[in-house]
Amino acid sequence: MTGCVALVGAGPGDPGLITVRGLELLRRCDAVVHDRLVATELVAEAPGEALRIGRGPLDQDEINHLLVRLARSGLDVVRLKGGDPFLFGRGGEEALALVEAGIAFEVVPGVSSLAAVPAAAGIPVTHRGVSSQVTIVNGHGPLDYASLAAAPGTLVAFMGLGRLDELAAGLIEHGRDASTPTAVIASGTHPEQRVVVAPLARIAEAAEDIDPPALVVIGEVVSLAETLGGVLSAVAA
Ligand SMILES: C[S@@+](CC[C@H](N)C(=O)[O-])C[C@H]1O[C@@H](n2cnc3c(N)ncnc32)[C@H](O)[C@@H]1O
Repeated sequence: MTGCVALVGAGPGDPGLITVRGLELLRRCDAVVHDRLVATELVAEAPGEALRIGRGPLDQDEINHLLVRLARSGLDVVRLKGGDPFLFGRGGEEALALVEAGIAFEVVPGVSSLAAVPAAAGIPVTHRGVSSQVTIVNGHGPLDYASLAAAPGTLVAFMGLGRLDELAAGLIEHGRDASTPTAVIASGTHPEQRVVVAPLARIAEAAEDIDPPALVVIGEVVSLAETLGGVLSAVAA
């Protein structure tokens, strides 16, 4: 009999942030295929005899084929992905591959780093009277700086650390205030979490020695990090 695949969000890093449903499926799966950023404590929750396969160097097509192959061999598979599977997680591509192959699947949402990582630094991405709009971007991809600079509220950039100087300069060039409070939060929710806060114009230099994974949060809500997260600005405006 063909097995099922569950695309399970593992949460942002802290193993305690997986959902109850996700943990249930993980504890009774026959195979777990996990991303690099997923907590090892979660992979250890799979039954002792379950196959454990790290994503490693496999590309997306290879992962899709692997999921289909494992399910066709009769195994119930948990595909354990960082954060939420459908937010910059390529979970949609895996789900489409499963539909195409006629494999039954379930999506178990996860706590995305989108709000959880800023929260861990004392930053609510929305806050009444401060920000009622959140714009999410892939900092790695092509960016429309004019529309991003004009968007009110909070801007959250995933995978933006490597291009932080370009991101800040592009936004300022297109009209975003250079003094806009900006945070870089690395390894959010992990014990080794690091947070740097600085004005937009100075964030790249302030976050120079930060390692990925990191989320960039730009907007007035970042000012709350001082009161709610005890984070002081790294440099003056
Ligand atoms: C491929 S995306 C996956 C996002 C994930 N699906 C989610 O919902 O959070 C990976 C990016 O998410 C962000 N990220 C994920 N976990 C993080 C964490 N614990 N701390 C900071 N940023 C994180 C980083 O920008 C990282 O480069």
